[in-house]
Amino acid sequence: MKSAMIPRINGERLWADLMALGEIGFAEGRGVTRTALSDADLAGKTWLVRRFEEAGLEVRTDAAYNVIGRLPSRTPGARLVAVGSHLDTVPQGGKFDGMLGVLAALECVRTVRETGIQLPWDLEVISFTDEEGAHNAGTVGSRAMMGELRDGELEKSVKQGRLSFAEDLRRAGKDPARIGDAWRDPAEFSCYLELHIEQGARLESQGIQIGAVTAIVGIYRYLVTVEGEPAHAGTTPMALRNDALVKAAPLFTLLPEWVKARDPEMVGTIGQVELFPGATNVVPGRCRFVVEVRSQRTADMLHLRDVLMAYAAGRAGWLVETILEKEGTPCAERLIQAVADAATAEGFSCVRMPSGAGHDAQSLAAAGVPTGMIFVPCRRGVSHSPEEWIEPVQATQGCQVLLRTLLELPDRI
Ligand code: GLV
Ligand code: MN
Ligand code: MN
Repeated sequence: MKSAMIPRINGERLWADLMALGEIGFAEGRGVTRTALSDADLAGKTWLVRRFEEAGLEVRTDAAYNVIGRLPSRTPGARLVAVGSHLDTVPQGGKFDGMLGVLAALECVRTVRETGIQLPWDLEVISFTDEEGAHNAGTVGSRAMMGELRDGELEKSVKQGRLSFAEDLRRAGKDPARIGDAWRDPAEFSCYLELHIEQGARLESQGIQIGAVTAIVGIYRYLVTVEGEPAHAGTTPMALRNDALVKAAPLFTLLPEWVKARDPEMVGTIGQVELFPGATNVVPGRCRFVVEVRSQRTADMLHLRDVLMAYAAGRAGWLVETILEKEGTPCAERLIQAVADAATAEGFSCVRMPSGAGHDAQSLAAAGVPTGMIFVPCRRGVSHSPEEWIEPVQATQGCQVLLRTLLELPDRI
C-alpha cells in the first residue's frame, strides 16, 4: 500500500481498551494479577472474545484456550498473517506486558475495516494462553500451537500443591487430553508480528521511540528439589538438623557467580523458592526452587546446566528436573527491516535490538514462521511490576508502526 494511504489508528480507543482490560484482576497497590487460567484470566478472555466479535472478527478458542480472531480476505487462496501476544500476567504485574500487543492488533483490525481496506491475506489476531508460566514453563499456548510442548509438562506445576496447567484447563472447560488439537502446521503462517513493551530501559534512556527486535533470548529453567528432614525448631539441636534451606542456600549465591564468570551478558535468576512444610517453628524438610538462565548463546546455557547438574549430583538429596530449554531465536531479517522502515516512514526514531524477555513470538520463530517484533519504551524499563507503565502516545506509536508494517507487507508474502 502507498505510504500516503496508510490510515491512522485511533489511539484513544486503544488506550480505553488497555485501561478497561487493566481493571480485570487489578487491586490498588498490587497491580494486575491475571495469572494464566485463573478466574481473572478467564474473565479477560471472555472480555476479549466480545471485543473481537464487536470488531467483526470470526472468533474461536482452541484446545489450549488461545483466543483467535480471524479477518478473512476476499482474495482467493489467500495466505495467513498472524499478530498476537498474551493477556495473562505475572502475580502483581502491570497493564501492558502482553495486552498491548493483543489490543493494538485489535485496533489495527478496526482501522482496516473502518477504512474499507481489503487485505490480500487472511489476518488472525491471537491471544496466547499462559505466556508467563503460572504453572510451569510459560509460552504454553503458542508452543501448543507450534507442537513444542514437552511430554507430561502440563501435568506438573512448579508450585507444589497448586493446580497444574492440565487441571486448570479442565476447570476452564477444555479437555487437556486434547491439547494436541491446538497444533497448526507452521507452514500455514506466512509471518507473525508482535508488538510489546521493551521491559528494559534502553529505548527510554536513549530517547528512541521504536525498537526493531533482532532476536529473542534463550531461556533454560530447572526445578531443583533439596530434601532435608522436618523437625521441631525449638527442640532440635543445631548439630542434629538436616535443614533443607541451609543445604540449598549456597547455590543461591553461587548461581550469580557462575553466570557472571561465564558471560557478562548472560543472566541467571532464582525467583521462586518454596519451603516445606513452611512454618516458622519447623526446620525446613524440603526446599524447592526454580533456577533460570537466559542468553542468546546456547553454549552458555548448556554450560550453566552442566555446572548445576554436577553440583547437584555430588550432593545427597538433590534432584534437578528440566522445565524448559528454549534456544535464543532470531527474527526474520526482512521483518526486522520492515519494522525499521515502517518506524522511519512514520517519523519515529528506531534502533535494532535483541529482546531479553521471552515472548510467544519465539515459539513461532522456533517453528520456522518468519517473525518480527516491535518494541516501545516503558517507564524506567520497569515491567513485571505494578509500576509498569507506558504513556498513551507510546501505545499509539507502537500500534501505528504495527499497522504500517502490516499494510506494507507484500501481497504474496
Ligand atoms: C516473560 O515475560 C518472560 O520473559 O519471562
Ligand atoms: Mn509479555
Ligand atoms: Mn511478561
